[in-house]
Order: sequence, then structure tokens, then C-alpha cells
Amino acid sequence: VMSPENIWSSLVFVKYFFSRYLRYLDYEVRYVRNFTDIDDKIIARANQLGEDPFSLSKRYSDDFLSDMAHLQCLPPSVEPRVSDHIDQIVTMIKQIIDNGCAYVVSGDVYFSVDNFPEYGKLSGRKLDDNRAGERVAVDDRKKNPADFALWKAAKDGEPWWDSPWGPGRPGWHIECSAMSAQYLGNSFDIHGGGEDLIFPHHENEIAQSRAACCDSSINYWVHNGFVNVNGQKMSKSLGNFITIRKIANLFRSPIN
Ligand SMILES: *[C@@H]1O[C@H](CO)[C@@H](O)[C@H](O)[C@H]1NC(C)=O
Repeated sequence: VMSPENIWSSLVFVKYFFSRYLRYLDYEVRYVRNFTDIDDKIIARANQLGEDPFSLSKRYSDDFLSDMAHLQCLPPSVEPRVSDHIDQIVTMIKQIIDNGCAYVVSGDVYFSVDNFPEYGKLSGRKLDDNRAGERVAVDDRKKNPADFALWKAAKDGEPWWDSPWGPGRPGWHIECSAMSAQYLGNSFDIHGGGEDLIFPHHENEIAQSRAACCDSSINYWVHNGFVNVNGQKMSKSLGNFITIRKIANLFRSPIN
């Protein structure tokens, strides 16, 4: 049964107090937390609302920052936004292509998993697990169905930037490789994220970073589980979520 106390502790401690705890243990911490301000979902939602995708994501990230401050989470050392790092992303994609791990198909760039033998090491998945048409949609422009987009050619109604492969925007996975390399260097200690990101997101991140720069490495991956409501994952799509603001108000009400 969900009580305000257990939502509070799981939400707050698991993810956002971790850096505070490391500092308490006397580690010097450089904490980088990303803002994804451009991706398929943001574009779709912005088009639905007739709003600019960047103003939409700015609105949500401002709310997020004020909620975090309310929870007394220390701010990260850096909070990079994807749209401010297109140059770094393009440079990294060029390196991956130069190192033979990516190919261009009419304005899109795909990572070639067949040219990266370590693919699957983090998640323990084998490439055969991703048979075409099952978990991965068939796309005959890809050499292997598990190949993933590093750069997506511009489509109508989508924001775009210039690149050596034509106008387009970054694929979802590359942002984390490019921004972590920028602020933490090619190798760093701890990478966090939700357990639902282990595959494919973090697997792809490792592949991109190592294909761009072979001595890139991450010492520890730390994955948090989901907050559950009556045995079900709390999620936007299920509509069973409670906002931080609502919880904060539950805490205030007994005081009043
Ligand atoms: C940070 O990056 C992850 C992986 O790309 C993404 O799922 C998450 O939404 C991003 N966080 C924010 C606050 O945008």
C-alpha cells in the first residue's frame, strides 16, 4: 500500500540524494544531469499543442527544477540541454563514422552493431534476441535490425540543424554520450538511470562512446527501479501517477 512516506523516500533518496550522500562520505563529486529538450515525444506533444518544442520542454524543466529545490535536492554541477550541444553531437557522430561503426543512408546516420563486437555486454542481450519484426521494427535501410539512429534527417514540422549529412536532428541515444564526454571526460565513475534504460539506451550509449573513443569507460552503472502503485509501475501512460507537488501538499496538510 502506498503511503506518502514511502513514495517520498523512494523518489527522493534513490535518485537525487545519491550525490549528497557521496559528498557526505567526503568524495569530491561532479554531478551532471541532462535535460532532453528535443526528442520524438516532445515534438509530437508540441505539435499537438501548437507550441514550440523548446518552449514546451523549458516549461517542464522549470517545473522540475522548482520541484527538486522544494525537495531540498542539491543542484547538479552542470545541467546540459541537448539543443545546446549539437556541435559536440555532430563531432562525435563523425568520429564514429570515421572509426567504421556507423553509416549514412539518405540523410540518416545509423550505428552499425555488427561492427561493434562488445554490443550487448551491459544488458547481457545477444543480437539474436532482437530479431527483426519482433522487438525492433523492420527497416530495410538498416544493415542489421538492431542498428539505431545517431542522426535523423529533417522531417516537416520538426526542428533541425545543419550537419555534414544534411539538415536533421540527433537520435535519442547520442546526446548522453556527447554530453557526458563534454562534462566528465571519456571515462568517469558512476552513471545512473532508470532500469528501463539499460536496454537499449545505456547499451547504445556505451557502444557510441567506445566507438568514438576506444578508451572511454564507465566504472559503475547504477540503475534505480520503478516507483510502484498497488503493484504496478507508476507511469504517465497508465495515468496512475502522483506528482511531487501533490505529495508535498499531503505533507503540508497535517501541519495546517
Ligand atoms: C535524461 O536522459 C535520459 C536518457 O536520454 C532521458 O530518458 C531523460 O528524460 C533525460 N532527463 C531529463 C530530465 O530530460
